[in-house]
Amino acid sequence: MTADASARGPEADAHVDDDIAVAESLPARAFTERAWLDRELATTFTRSWQLVPERATDEDPRSLAEQIAARGARVPVTMAGRPLYLQRGWDDDALRLFPNTCTHAWFPLVPGPSRGPTLVCGQHGRRFDCAGRFVSQQGFQGARGFPRDCDHLRAMPAAVWRGLTLAALDPAAPALADVLAPVDASLVRLPDTMTRAPGGGEVRDVAGNWKQHAWNFLDHFHIGFVHRAPGGLADAVDLGTYRTELFDDAVLQWVFARDPADGFDPALLPERFADERGRRVFALWWFVYPNLALNFYPWGLSVNAYQPIPDRPDATRFGWYHWVLDAAKYAERDRRWLSAQVDAEDVDALAQVSRGLRSGFAPRGRFAPTEEQAAHWLHRKVSRDVGAA
Ligand code: FES
Ligand SMILES: [Fe+2]
Repeated sequence: MTADASARGPEADAHVDDDIAVAESLPARAFTERAWLDRELATTFTRSWQLVPERATDEDPRSLAEQIAARGARVPVTMAGRPLYLQRGWDDDALRLFPNTCTHAWFPLVPGPSRGPTLVCGQHGRRFDCAGRFVSQQGFQGARGFPRDCDHLRAMPAAVWRGLTLAALDPAAPALADVLAPVDASLVRLPDTMTRAPGGGEVRDVAGNWKQHAWNFLDHFHIGFVHRAPGGLADAVDLGTYRTELFDDAVLQWVFARDPADGFDPALLPERFADERGRRVFALWWFVYPNLALNFYPWGLSVNAYQPIPDRPDATRFGWYHWVLDAAKYAERDRRWLSAQVDAEDVDALAQVSRGLRSGFAPRGRFAPTEEQAAHWLHRKVSRDVGAA
């Protein structure tokens, strides 16, 4: 890359055409440059709903949703590198996200889980209520024009959805119910009683920009190659029946299982997934923009979150969690649904792409119009977020 190119902002060469027949992919530098990641953190990752990482420990193995269920409960969390805390209301049942930064002199407010009608800052004793309002502080008698609006904590939206805790940094983020409406419509018959798998969760830093992981997830085109037969995912599904459905903020990919025994009981899915030839849906692979994959299988739900790490455009904090619907099938997930194998094959492919995009020989790609609608959808949305013309 020339010095000129790196001096330009992301918007300079971020345009991705709406028409897949002519569109070029995002440039390679979108996956390697800090300026790109900084722009995404300021746009994509403030406006969108993010999975709040689970924080189960040996002392408290409960899911995050359970940890913040009680009135007045609060727990510190980190999202996109920012210190925050979740707070359940005391006078109401609302769940809110707040900066874990005191409005007085920026000391962290919530060092660990706690519960009560108010919290007191550990540095100089400023007191806040569960709605984030400044309540009192010794020594401020005589202060004029106080408290100001910014002496209260900024409340950001948070919600629990099917046992997952989600939050957004921008109070003007779209309503979560609207974002997830198409997902909900596909799950109306699926019991909302999944339990978090004991030990079924992990957060690890992996190679590759967050967009590579999202792109890989949305790329069914590679299944016949990277996950090829014999013995691969291409064997377990009827690839010719693969469907990709694009929504405003979500994408659904689904396919019929080769062996009906590996598919969903039709009673658990809406009528539109029924098949008169008796074929059954292998999985509902949902992607919620920008970085959340919700993989519904007959055994339950595998959640993947591709979280950016500030200042590290070439790495991703990969969170995955399992929620179990059918324990017997869950025990067979690697054999019948090839979970571990597909994961390993994707990790290897991603590492190879990482080398390629850093090679200095990576032109902007083109999209196969019949195969890569979802990849194009992702690139287009990121392009708009970073301000491309
Ligand atoms: S930093 Fe919190 S009271 Fe001073
Ligand atoms: Fe894959």
